Amino acid sequence: MKATASSTSVNTPAEVFAFRKQFPIFENKIHLANNSKGALSQAVILAHQEYLESWKRDGAPWHTWVGKQESLRASFAEMIGAKPHEIAVCPSVSVALYSIASCLDWRERPAVVFDDFSFPSVTYMWHAQAIRGAEIRRVHPDGKGEIPPEAFDAVLDEGVRLVSVAHVCYKNGHRLDLPAIARKAHNAGAWLVVDDYQSSGSRPLNVRQTGIDILTTGTVKFMLGSAGVALLYVREELLPELHPTLTGWFGQKNPEDFQIDRHIEAPDATRFQNGTPAIPAIYDSLAGIEQIKSVGLNTIASWIDQLTALLMDRLQEEGFVPATPADPRKRGPQVAIRSYDMDAAVAELARRNICVTSRDGNIRIAFHYYNTPEDIEALIENLKQMPKLMVRR
Ligand SMILES: Cc1ncc(COP(=O)(O)O)c(C=O)c1O
Repeated sequence: MKATASSTSVNTPAEVFAFRKQFPIFENKIHLANNSKGALSQAVILAHQEYLESWKRDGAPWHTWVGKQESLRASFAEMIGAKPHEIAVCPSVSVALYSIASCLDWRERPAVVFDDFSFPSVTYMWHAQAIRGAEIRRVHPDGKGEIPPEAFDAVLDEGVRLVSVAHVCYKNGHRLDLPAIARKAHNAGAWLVVDDYQSSGSRPLNVRQTGIDILTTGTVKFMLGSAGVALLYVREELLPELHPTLTGWFGQKNPEDFQIDRHIEAPDATRFQNGTPAIPAIYDSLAGIEQIKSVGLNTIASWIDQLTALLMDRLQEEGFVPATPADPRKRGPQVAIRSYDMDAAVAELARRNICVTSRDGNIRIAFHYYNTPEDIEALIENLKQMPKLMVRR
């Protein structure tokens, strides 16, 4: 099918329609809130039922459940070009990164660098390290609302322990140039720590090739899973110097050791785990990742890029004002659009069965492999009927 309203024409492959059919929400609504919550698929419903069945049938099948966690580690490792022993399953991005922070002695290299596009939960966690000697250094956007790699030059020196960035900004969808930032961090002797939550599941990312030392992400958004699971990658070469003081039995070499006179951390990245894992979310999230892999991240990224380009064109044609960079290389799966009253705009679109979210004065539209040009046209038509809520040139 061809969308003709814009100068950009996009043909929807049959595979996209087939994928969309697996997500019941599209029978009633247009789901464009993927940067907040991916849509629920039949595959995830089945996985969740499988968990409930195992509980009903077997009572306490912890070995089966822990086996699922191992499958999730392996599947995610494969997705980002890592090894399974470099992956930990954590309850949230905040906890995953705190587990890293709990290893750090800030005396030698006290500075942590983060930029204004970081997710607040991550910045709170770094700020909180000040009590233990950390020094915060901030990087701000330029006049165009972008953060180019050169913006990091002024704050990088031998005092910096790590540079913490979000791959894609949750507010305006700006995608940072990770390889360039990695080179700068490494030249200063610092690690690159990446929060990939606003991108994972929407485009391929190879941690080794990109120069990422530590990566964390969660599964509720483009990975199509449930809340309660975050994934943490730690480059294996860093393990000898990272010993978390946030720990628990699932971070031990042998979780079933049950000896209270010692602490023997796991030799691999599972040392960054702590208490009982969120088993239902692990079932859901593994199913979500497998569903993404069944399409392939290159295919997903190419489709999402076509949709974001189409939406940017349509906004331009209709006089709406995007807050997202015009350069496609600086965009992720999200387009943010200026609003006079973002909360009212989200509520009005919800009333019209279009599911979006808002931040920082923008409504946020985020695509997945199940969205179509027709979703974009429906969005534009509805935005045109909301003159008091949406900024227009
Ligand atoms: C970029 C980013 N990082 C982290 C989070 C959430 O982190 P946590 O798992 O600690 O709730 C979000 C949630 O929207 C996010 O957008």
